[in-house]
Amino acid sequence: MAKLWGGRFNESMNELLERFNASITFDKNLWEEDIQGSMEHAKMLYSIGLLEVNELDLILNGLREISSEIIKDKFSFSLENEDIHTAIENELCKKIGQAGKKLHTARSRNDQVALDFMLYCRKANIVLQGLLGKLIQTLLNIAKQHTHTLMPGMTHLQHAQPINFGYHIVAWCMGFKRDIQRLRNSLSMINECPLGSAALAGTPYKNERENLALGLGFESASLNAMDSVAQRDFALDLLYDISMIMLHISRLAEELIIWSSYEFGFVAFADDFATGSSIMPQKKNPDVAELLRGKCGRAYGNLIALLTTMKSLPFAYNKDMQEDKESVFDSVQTAHICLEILNASLKTLHINKENMRKMCEVGHLVATDLADFLVQELGIPFREAHHVTGICVRYAEKEGLDLSQVDIQDLQALLVKELGDGVAINIDKLSSALNLEDSMQRRNSIGGCNSDEVKRQIHVLETWLDI
Ligand code: ARG
Repeated sequence: MAKLWGGRFNESMNELLERFNASITFDKNLWEEDIQGSMEHAKMLYSIGLLEVNELDLILNGLREISSEIIKDKFSFSLENEDIHTAIENELCKKIGQAGKKLHTARSRNDQVALDFMLYCRKANIVLQGLLGKLIQTLLNIAKQHTHTLMPGMTHLQHAQPINFGYHIVAWCMGFKRDIQRLRNSLSMINECPLGSAALAGTPYKNERENLALGLGFESASLNAMDSVAQRDFALDLLYDISMIMLHISRLAEELIIWSSYEFGFVAFADDFATGSSIMPQKKNPDVAELLRGKCGRAYGNLIALLTTMKSLPFAYNKDMQEDKESVFDSVQTAHICLEILNASLKTLHINKENMRKMCEVGHLVATDLADFLVQELGIPFREAHHVTGICVRYAEKEGLDLSQVDIQDLQALLVKELGDGVAINIDKLSSALNLEDSMQRRNSIGGCNSDEVKRQIHVLETWLDI
């Protein structure tokens, strides 16, 4: 088959190079965007008098026909065509002859591919926002049922203070909310249309780029043609946005893996989202969460790969940039499936409230409460209260008890001994200070884990999401 650029060549291309040079095996993914761009371009050519009305009709109908052939799997994406732009243009020319040959006036594959890829990234961005919204919705539905479910809050993966499970879930949601905001920001920056930049320097034809840009959903034509065909910032933004989504998924997945162990037993995957072992018949493994955690690596890899490809490239377009697509396609597909799977598996996740509650009774979760009590009730400086509470914790350890379980009279006596005979300790207030539920509910500052405060946080997120 004749190459689009075959005029100056005597010999045909080396077969190895043909394979090496071609991008059709993966950029066929962009067929829809390519056809959309060509249709708008044809309308623009008509508007500046470069196409007759019948030629425009032929082109538009031809492109529609190609579209339906691709959808019906009747289009051949052969290697000889090099890339999707060539494949569609060649097929159009085969179908409609001379009129098809006019389509490439006032454009180049350099601006064409920049446009197609931008349109693809915009679409992917919007789809990912939708999936994140659905995931947050599922998480909030779980959170709503667990605003009173006590669990040990951790720092350094060590017991810290009592919280509720709903609160922890809302914490997860915040990362995904920022992911949506980050995607929105990125989307708002894909607002300049590169089409009409041509190879690198613009075109000598009547300038209709602004209308063309509006027709393709952009705010304006790009300001500088050379930059338009040489930059892939929008693809890197998407790769970074996806890396952040995958980072958040991996942290959530890690917690699900830990929590589904015997040692924790906080959650269990439903049978249809768990896997077994080929040798150990008793096993129920959290493969789904492990894969969600592991897929993060490829998202980071894709980002670093394209950053590295783009580094130090001279202006304007270089063929290196053909390497931009596979990493983006892979990251988009990965994030897509991960968000779907995570959402589905959370819907049937079993939550073991009893084990969460039991684990609140070890690790002296109420120690901070005792120190706060001494500050509030007796006016002792916090540092001193911290020290005295430490002595109480040591006492509890010696007794083999959790601080929340020591005999209240014994504790009162210990405090009097440490703080001096003059101190009056209200026994009801002391026992409330050591009560796990009371401890959780006391933290009602903005952003705290108090049940009503968590309900408010859920409401704010739902309003933001417009549920
Ligand atoms: N397949 C190419 C790519 O993906 C399209 C642009 C080719 N332009 C060129 N001057 N060779 O980047």
